[in-house]
Amino acid sequence: MKYTVKIGIIGGSGLDDPNIFKDSTEQKIITPYGDPSDSLICGKLNGVDCVLLARHGRKHSISPTNINYRANIWALKHLGCTHIIASSATGSLKEEIKPGDLVILDSFIDMTKNRKLTMFDKDDKVVHLPIEPPFSPELRSIIIETAQSLGIHVHHTGTAVVIEGPRFSTKAESNLYRLWNADLVNMTLIPEVVLAKEAGLLYATVAMATDFDCWREATEKVNVANVIKVFKENVKKITQLFIEVIPKIAEKHWDIEIDELNCLIQESVQSN
Ligand code: ADE
Repeated sequence: MKYTVKIGIIGGSGLDDPNIFKDSTEQKIITPYGDPSDSLICGKLNGVDCVLLARHGRKHSISPTNINYRANIWALKHLGCTHIIASSATGSLKEEIKPGDLVILDSFIDMTKNRKLTMFDKDDKVVHLPIEPPFSPELRSIIIETAQSLGIHVHHTGTAVVIEGPRFSTKAESNLYRLWNADLVNMTLIPEVVLAKEAGLLYATVAMATDFDCWREATEKVNVANVIKVFKENVKKITQLFIEVIPKIAEKHWDIEIDELNCLIQESVQSN
């Protein structure tokens, strides 16, 4: 095996507890893109090397637009991560995705407006990376199988619309996204998933639906209090899933997938 598995865990609100690690150490990383959201916590989980990063900072003080996604991904790569498993709070756009449900995302629609979308703007290289599939299919399968073995219900696929925020959507926007057949709405997936691929990291997100956004007549409209409440009530499912999935990820040989991704990145540099 050419690559040793090391797993970056990007926690959304509520999933950033360093106590899930044995003997953790804290690393402050300086990157060419500036500071990551917080120090990175390195440790072993079920015998596997992992690095934990709180996406919004441990004090939850960074808004979605102001997260330094490039520094976050660069820092995880720098610490030797091969994979990232992330969690995110999302609004549900479908009746069948209830608050508290988990969704293993397989696609996105990017509606962000004000973010640095690539790592490749430092020199005179132009890189057009094919993003499809944005999430590692092999990583997603392992997460789905593990959830099934734990009896945790997960939706196997899902498309998230990613909005700029920090405001939530209007009802007109929410209904538009429903017309597009999107499943969820979120503020932080972009550019994280894109940058992970650019950095050659295999990436998957476990999204939690925390609310029905604002399209559903019978329900209270989304607000911060209910997002936090539902996330906290259900975060144990994600923690349990991550704890169990991590050794399963480490068991597999990933040379083919990582080599293929590195090849794709190299082929994507536009040569003149
Ligand atoms: N995160 C959690 N719920 C959300 C919603 N309804 N819209 C955007 N981001 C969210």
